[in-house]
Amino acid sequence: MNRRVADYDSVADRFDRRYILYAYNGVRETLLDFIGAERPSAVLEVGCGTGHWLRAVAGTSPIIAGMDPSFGMLSRARETTPGARLVRASAETLPWGDASFNRLFCINALHHFPDRQRFFAEARRVLRPGGGLLTIGKDPHAERDEWWVYDYFPETLAIDRARFAAVRTLRGELASAGFAWAESSEADRIESVTPVTDAFANGVVDRAYTSQLTVLTGEEFNAGIERLRAAEAECAGRGGTFDLVTDFRLYATIGWLS
Ligand SMILES: C[S@@+](CC[C@H](N)C(=O)[O-])C[C@H]1O[C@@H](n2cnc3c(N)ncnc32)[C@H](O)[C@@H]1O
Repeated sequence: MNRRVADYDSVADRFDRRYILYAYNGVRETLLDFIGAERPSAVLEVGCGTGHWLRAVAGTSPIIAGMDPSFGMLSRARETTPGARLVRASAETLPWGDASFNRLFCINALHHFPDRQRFFAEARRVLRPGGGLLTIGKDPHAERDEWWVYDYFPETLAIDRARFAAVRTLRGELASAGFAWAESSEADRIESVTPVTDAFANGVVDRAYTSQLTVLTGEEFNAGIERLRAAEAECAGRGGTFDLVTDFRLYATIGWLS
């Protein structure tokens, strides 16, 4: 089983639930700051999914483009992001000519790309001189996160450590791909304490909620649900409420071309 490949076609209709639950203000500010106020002439999101971040950057550039290999995710993006140029493709083979964009970004997507270095080489090719690549995602190697998903579905932590690179690794790979300068910072901190009954009711404990759960086998997922139900029953037996704790960071890494 390929733990990297989440079936996004099957979860596209429920994917945007995360944007009802969290504002992701830090991600939004980091993204708009990266694009800058000078209206770059062309911006591309790689792994754009349902187009949430394409909508966030609408109006910042005359050309806003998005690409994603998932037909289901792109269909959602087409419905809600009419101004964007949307293409079905993979990050490793970007279907644009050299020097087509000033800014390229990837949000919560890089860990799905089978060949990150090939993507960085492609990003460098399609960016114009002085252009920049921003990627935002987790860094499970930093060991600063607390997340009920890792606690109750323990296979997910090892899977994440295998598919997410540490931010310092990303900076090294950007340098190897020819980016003149790379920097990282904390972009957002996602925090919540949710009673497990609410989490079950609002679809948080759902394979579609996050790819960490989507890539589990049915047995692994069901075993995690049993752990949650057992913890819930134990708390209820003591007259308490069982809460799911989320506290993790999203890091931004930016590479600039000279
Ligand atoms: C967690 S979603 C993020 C979507 C969007 N960026 C957002 O933050 O709402 C990850 C996306 O990466 C896409 N993806 C997976 N493999 C990819 C690849 N090789 N190249 C480009 N995108 C890919 C998936 O189809 C999915 O839409």
